[in-house]
Amino acid sequence: MSKILVTGGAGFIGSNFVRLLLDETDHEVINLDALTYAGNLENLADLESNPRYSFVRADISLRSEVEAAFSSAPDKSSPEMVVHFAAESHVDRSVLDASAFVNTNVLGTQVLIDVARARGVERFLHVSTDEVYGSLGATGKFTEQTPLQPNSPYSASKTGSDLLVRAAHHTHGFPAMITRCSNNYGPYQFPEKLIPLMIANALEGQKLPVYGDGLNVRDWIYVGDHCAALLAVLMQGKAGEVYNIGGNEERENIWVVKTILELLGKGEELIEYVKDRPGHDRRYAIDGSKIAQELGWKPAHDFAGGLRETVTWYLDNKDWWQRVRSGAYREYYKRQYGSD
Ligand code: NAD
Ligand code: TYD
Repeated sequence: MSKILVTGGAGFIGSNFVRLLLDETDHEVINLDALTYAGNLENLADLESNPRYSFVRADISLRSEVEAAFSSAPDKSSPEMVVHFAAESHVDRSVLDASAFVNTNVLGTQVLIDVARARGVERFLHVSTDEVYGSLGATGKFTEQTPLQPNSPYSASKTGSDLLVRAAHHTHGFPAMITRCSNNYGPYQFPEKLIPLMIANALEGQKLPVYGDGLNVRDWIYVGDHCAALLAVLMQGKAGEVYNIGGNEERENIWVVKTILELLGKGEELIEYVKDRPGHDRRYAIDGSKIAQELGWKPAHDFAGGLRETVTWYLDNKDWWQRVRSGAYREYYKRQYGSD
């Protein structure tokens, strides 16, 4: 049994990963999260009484707070492993203002590397994105050798963090792996991203804003599959290596939006084509052959089934996303932990 420090565990993918660790392993989990607008401890409310789980509110860009989280075990012993999700994650927000992206994604990652290295962490998994590779034309897929050509402030800041992790391994032998995953969907995704936004808008009878011509392509992966791949890399991956993770499910945005409407029994008149996102990447697609061959991992969900399950989850958890959309979820921390 090891202690695993998970950063960003109150976010979408991080909370699904914490749940996987507690349900399917016997490891202890320390969830380090700053609780920005995207961090929601309600995602993990049912796990709070688990003796293997603890939460520490900390900002990864502040060394003293990160140090405190690393010493938060009753015997002050450091975690043996770190899985690093904490990030500003939304492209549209980075277009409006990139400063938090540089602070958290770039500076915060270096602070985390420094503390983890000083504490002798044995495995460090940096969770990154396929967006660091830039945009594809009509054909081809991203491999681990594809040059890094990020186009948005979000992907540029993630690329910066990838390079800092790479340099720490090269210079100091820091035992880090990097994963680069395609677009995730599933339970607990903040309703600013395409799929939950479209589901919530359709259920509330609001317009579904489709950027540009709606023909941009994303490679969709169910969040549970991404988490299973991360666990495989954490346990069996080789330090210094990069692993691409993809769903092998390329779809045009308009197909995704129309399928959601169909699953909800709503009409296409809700679709509204709006001004394109500046610098909008046209197509992402992952070549996942390295992780399949080396670690034996493949996605278990197909998109049609995963999307159906996800729509059902949002229908069954209307309270969750309505509280998120109204901002009420932010009261939870105060009630649960007694401060802002
Ligand atoms: P999210 O926005 O849902 O969650 C991010 C979490 O990080 C939140 O809980 C937030 O409170 C926390 N956080 C933000 N700034 C922090 C700081 N300074 N200190 C501590 N915690 C902070 O994001 P997500 O979609 O779950 O993505 C998680 C990670 O996976 C990110 O690194 C992202 O780049 C990567 N990723 C996401 C996708 C995707 O499709 N969502 C795909 C590939 C990779
Ligand atoms: P998003 O979920 O923001 O993920 P990313 O930009 O990281 O791929 O967007 C997915 C795709 O959906 C992307 O091509 C932009 C598009 N999109 C819309 O058309 N309308 C929207 O309201 C949003 C949020 C995204």
